[in-house]
Amino acid sequence: MSFLSKCSTETVQSAAVALKAGHLVAFPTETVYGLGADAESAEAVARIYETKGRPNDHPLIVHIGSMDGISDWAGDIPEYAITLARDFWPGPLTLVVNRGERAKDFITGGQNTVGLRVPAHNIALGLIQEFIKAGGKGIAAPSANRFGAVSPTNAQAVEDELAQYLKVEDIILDGGPSLVGVESTIVDCTKETPFILRPGAVTAEMIEESTGLIALAPEQTEIRVSGSLDSHYSPKAKVVLDAIAEPGDGLIAPDQIPTPDGVIRLASPRTIEGYARDLYAALRSADTQGIDVVVVLQPGGDGLAAAIRDRLKRSAYE
Ligand code: TXA
Ligand code: MG
Repeated sequence: MSFLSKCSTETVQSAAVALKAGHLVAFPTETVYGLGADAESAEAVARIYETKGRPNDHPLIVHIGSMDGISDWAGDIPEYAITLARDFWPGPLTLVVNRGERAKDFITGGQNTVGLRVPAHNIALGLIQEFIKAGGKGIAAPSANRFGAVSPTNAQAVEDELAQYLKVEDIILDGGPSLVGVESTIVDCTKETPFILRPGAVTAEMIEESTGLIALAPEQTEIRVSGSLDSHYSPKAKVVLDAIAEPGDGLIAPDQIPTPDGVIRLASPRTIEGYARDLYAALRSADTQGIDVVVVLQPGGDGLAAAIRDRLKRSAYE
């Protein structure tokens, strides 16, 4: 595996060529790092599942370079999905739409829908553009972590977690820390109105404002996404929500909360955006420091705070 920092145009080009040749390329996005493969290659996609240790009936998001890529992967899609793509792409929004012929069962987990996203990150977009120049159509990429674990928000976390499963020709592109820090909002666009399958930085309110339609929330849907399994986003440490931290415990809490004596402070975010950006790295650092229990004081409020609580609920689930 090559770990490539300070990615130049040539670096990104060589990574696109590696992808086209069937190798894996982990790359930065604004949400979390993705583990990419050629979305048209069954063999390359099979390696994503092996590397993650993920059950292979779980669908993957196809990353495309712009709205033009929708027709490569989707069948019929409603007007409001186009509106959402126009308003929020590139950005932390995945649209689940009826699949076209190119979206095979190995991408969709056998479902008749496909998840599409245009990430807002220069390196990700450069990689997709170079991949398209090399004859590709889209990059399948789940978060670059082992199944059930915390998503990586920097390249070092990808290396720490996946290096032993990657092969010599595979590549990790280092693009610095992810600016959003939690995974994209996933919206099911196969019904008359948008259904939010996974909350994220594009909030229900933003979706309603953009489309003029009511956006239903996760509890109201039954479609299963892997991030919706009860236990997910979990570090090795036990995550305990809204409790009092004891000496030796880790603590993640808003910055105005003081650190009790003997407690190891892992993050002190000042804003909700800062909370989302720092959360996963803080959970990971609990494991590198060998901390057994992490107490997390959850943020209140809607929007991104709700997305953070959604992930925390699953991190804490046993
Ligand atoms: O922010 C993100 O979305 C990151 C970056 C790398 O783009 N990707 C990501 O991928 O979080 P992953 O595979 O870790 O989570 C994607 C979720 C999975 O829970 C999957 O089940 C769901 O999206 N998903 C993908 N395609 C779907 C589909 N056709 N129908 C329903 N859920 C789908
Ligand atoms: Mg994931």
